[in-house]
Parts: sequence; C-alpha cells; structure tokens
Amino acid sequence: MRESKAMQNLPPYLFARIEKKIAYAQSQGIDVINLGIGDPDLPTPKKIIDRMAEAIYDPSNHQYPSSVGLLEYRQAVASWYKQRFDVDLDPQTEIVSLLGSKEGIAHISFAYLDADDYSLVPDPAYPVYSIGALLAGARSYFMPLTEEKDFLPVLEDIPASIAQKAKLMFINYPNNPTGAVCDIDFFNRVVEFAKYFDILVCHDAAYSELAYDNYRPLSFLQAKGAKDIGVEFHSLSKTFNMTGWRIGWLAGNKVAVEVMGRFKSNVDSGVFQAVQYAAIEGLEGPRDSIDQLNAIYQERRDIAVQGLRTMGIKIQPPKGSFYVWAPVPKGYSSTSFAEHMLENAHVIVTPGNGYGEHGEGYFRIALTVDKDRMQTAFNRMAAALKDSNNGEMDQ
Ligand SMILES: Cc1ncc(COP(=O)(O)O)c(C=O)c1O
Repeated sequence: MRESKAMQNLPPYLFARIEKKIAYAQSQGIDVINLGIGDPDLPTPKKIIDRMAEAIYDPSNHQYPSSVGLLEYRQAVASWYKQRFDVDLDPQTEIVSLLGSKEGIAHISFAYLDADDYSLVPDPAYPVYSIGALLAGARSYFMPLTEEKDFLPVLEDIPASIAQKAKLMFINYPNNPTGAVCDIDFFNRVVEFAKYFDILVCHDAAYSELAYDNYRPLSFLQAKGAKDIGVEFHSLSKTFNMTGWRIGWLAGNKVAVEVMGRFKSNVDSGVFQAVQYAAIEGLEGPRDSIDQLNAIYQERRDIAVQGLRTMGIKIQPPKGSFYVWAPVPKGYSSTSFAEHMLENAHVIVTPGNGYGEHGEGYFRIALTVDKDRMQTAFNRMAAALKDSNNGEMDQ
C-alpha cells in the first residue's frame, strides 16, 4: 500500500512534532511550561456551557445536522456581523457553518485549486493555508511578511505571471504568528489587486476579537467591494475558549459560500446542533466575557514583553492575537533556540521556521498560561540564556 504523492510530501503537523518532545520530557518527570500551541487555558463561558447542557437533552439535536448550519445559527452570525462590523450578510446565501475554521481553510483549496494553480500564502503563516494547496495538488506562492513592512505582504512584489495563475490568496489579521494587525487601506488594496487578477481572497479572522490597547480589529468585508471577491473565515475557538467544540463559519461572497456548502455537503455532515445552539448563546450574549479575556491576555502579554526585554530582546507589544513574535538572540537559529529553551529552561516556544522560511530567526510564544506560570517561564528562560552566555545578558 502506498500513500498518495501529496501525503508523502506532508510532514506531521508542527504541533504533533512538538507534542512528542513535551511527552518525552514529561515522562522524565520534568515540569514543562508550554508556550507553544495557541490553545486557550481558560474555560468556555458558563452561559454557553449551560445552553449546551440544555440542548444535548433534546433528541431533535441528535440527528444529522444541516451541512451548511442551522438557519438560526447563520442568522446569529449575520446579526453579530452587523453589530460588530456594520457589515450586512444574508444568512441564507452568504454564510456557511464550519467544523472549526481549520476545516474550511483546508477544504477551500480543494474547492478552488486544480493542479498547477497557485495559492498566494503569507510566509510566515498558519501552516494550513499551504497544506490545503499541497493536498489539492496545487502550488503555493509564498508572500514574505517582514518586520520592516509591518508583516503585511507587498502586493507589488508578487510577479504578474504568478498572480495570473493564482486562484486563492490567504491573509490573516490579527496575525498568527506575528501578532501584527492591519488597517482598512491594506484591505482595500487587497480587494483591488484580487479584482484585477480574479483571485478569491480568503481572510482568516480567527483572532478578530483578541486585541489590546483599545485596538479594534477590522473585518475584511468592511473593505469596499470585498464581498465581490472575498470571504472571511471566523472561529468561536479563541473568542469564547471553544477550541474543543469545533465550530466556526465562512462568510462573504455568495458564489464561494455556495461552492463551499456544496463541497461540505459531500464530505461532512455539519456541526452537532447542540454546539450550534451553544454558539448562538455566545454570539448573542454580552461582550463582557471577551473584554475580561482581553484584559487577562494583555496582562500576560506585558509580562512576556518585559521578560523578553530582560533577555535583551526588544520588541513592540503586539496589538492583536494572543501571540508574541520575537527575534531569537544572537548566535541562535529558530530551532537551536527552541531546543535550548526546552532542554535548559523546560519551556516550549515554537520555532519561527515552523511557519515558513521567513519565520527563521524568530520564535513565537502563546499567552495561554496564567501570569505566574508566564513569569516563571521567563525567569527560567532568562537564566538559561545567561548560563549559555557565561553571565552576559545583553546580546
Ligand atoms: C490563524 C488561525 N486560523 C485558524 C485557526 C483554526 O481555528 P479553529 O479551527 O479552531 O477554528 C487557528 C488555530 O490556531 C489559527 O491560528
């Protein structure tokens, strides 16, 4: 038996590799602090859990759900969009439910890419954008995200010969892994570019509600004409600490929404209805749980930024997402720094090169441990760095 060529080219998912290392260290009795994967440590708000508990006893929720989502769920998404972004969406034609946004992000490449088509993918980026293209037998063209360009892709640098063969373009703000944010001017320029080359823009808004210092992330669909050429992926995972529940949605261009709905009706059978009712509770509820979450992450972020500065790494505090993206100290590569921290500080950080070539020289930390543990992690990292520098801290 031989796996497909695409599978032969597919390495284990980044965090599956890291989890193995953690499991080994833990089996040696080591207390590992995991600043690796971005999986919220805080619980789902009680009101959502209570709604789930109620819905789970209703036998009508035990059957196959609709593969595009309950109309009530899509209506709740449309109202949330209107309130949050002042964007109008038709729940019947412009929204489809997803089994978490990762599922939709991976599948849209199958719905849009033929062999030899290109997908425009940021580098560094959430790995699933390029994995989708790889599995669909298509190609990725990597758009570098660099610090000097505020981690925004430079559209003018994309060769016209590639853009002509591109069918999809992924963008993501607030950004994983860099924590960067963008303004409406950037989204407007993306719309113009995509219209010119007839490319479907896929904006990944998984972190749209996690923001600090009074910054309010935008929706791509707020850009003029965005719905003509683009869709937006959303997730309840990070907004309501619901990574295990598997629910999100795709919204925007009605042709793309229909294509994805048709695709999904053939490969999955929708989101457990009880989960959809619980999600409605979250979307229709007050924002206080989100505000509290952001206050907690902001405090942790400040500890992380201070901790990095103590290690001689100077960065600007990120305004969105729950990640801090930092350059490795002099003398290290992404991998050697992550290994050094695991072995000597027993702290997991994610090596930046796991997100693409342009992530080399960086590492990412997730703000998903409590502030005391975060402080301990940075104390340990600073000590491990000092030891390896013979007491010299400033790199
Ligand atoms: C940028 C980005 N998009 C999408 C996802 C997937 O989220 P989910 O599938 O839980 O909705 C993640 C998860 O970490 C992410 O970082």
